[in-house]
Amino acid sequence: MPAISASAPGKAILFGEHAVVYGQPAIAVPVKQVKATAIIRPLIRERSGFVRIQAEQINLDSALSDLPEQNPIALAVRSTLSELNINQPPAFHLRISSTIPLGGGLGSGAAISVAVIRAVSSFLGSSLEAEQVSDLTFEVEKLYHGNPSGLDNTVVAFEKPIYFVKGDPIEFAHLKESFTLVIADTGKSTPTRDTVAAVRSAWKADKQNFDRLFTEIGELSHRARKILEGGNPVDLGPLMDENHSRLQEMGVSSAELDQLVMAAKQEGALGAKLSGGGRGGNIIALVRDEDGERIEATLKNAGAKGTVVTRVQ
Ligand code: PMV
Repeated sequence: MPAISASAPGKAILFGEHAVVYGQPAIAVPVKQVKATAIIRPLIRERSGFVRIQAEQINLDSALSDLPEQNPIALAVRSTLSELNINQPPAFHLRISSTIPLGGGLGSGAAISVAVIRAVSSFLGSSLEAEQVSDLTFEVEKLYHGNPSGLDNTVVAFEKPIYFVKGDPIEFAHLKESFTLVIADTGKSTPTRDTVAAVRSAWKADKQNFDRLFTEIGELSHRARKILEGGNPVDLGPLMDENHSRLQEMGVSSAELDQLVMAAKQEGALGAKLSGGGRGGNIIALVRDEDGERIEATLKNAGAKGTVVTRVQ
């Protein structure tokens, strides 16, 4: 049996993080410049059922049977085996690597799960539908997030821009024109489950204000979809700025995020906002194509620990 390799892209949330947890629409796009990769090699000398998992970046090198139920990679492997009704797979070695910053709001967890699920299923001779991959990934996301909206697993498994409403059938956003985003990492991170929990307690303390914020953000996602599908993506800029202000009001921005947003705007970005759970992680800036490299350099000078320029199409 030859080695099998599968990968999955990162993602960025263009509009609607947090509000999406409360039923409002969000828009997310795949970021294909970064990816998680899973490589499987058969272990011919081992007994069937033996699986070794190696992920150097997180210092993991272990037999599957030694990993606890709550280990996300182990769960991705086990649930794929059970989806395929396979108890004793031929022994294999699974090696995982990723160029997506961990915990930075770029979907690293979902991408690792999707890559693992794709690699394991294809090693076993099955190809799962994107929807099955997304559903299995959602179960793993619960370990990271507690109560995820389902946005990350959907955009990463389908690898297409999506307009996402929790619990609704999947809707893709059909982009009329492509556009460029600069993504910049603060280098700090707060687990998404913590920012989601913080928003929940703030909402409980002031439902009226937070419900208003969620509705306003939902309205921005709605308007953004029209712009994406109608052309003229430069018009998204002011909507991103508004979305960032609402996230600040919600208390999920941070000094580092605000500083990067401001630096991008001062250098001519059309709009900029934090992306993902917040309180660290990444910002995204919408830029004219010709400004991408300059704004990327500015963001590095302003303290970004990593940057990606991506064309969204
Ligand atoms: O931090 P990320 O990129 O995984 O994004 C989380 C998005 C939230 O809306 C904050 C949570 C969710 O489950 O949708």
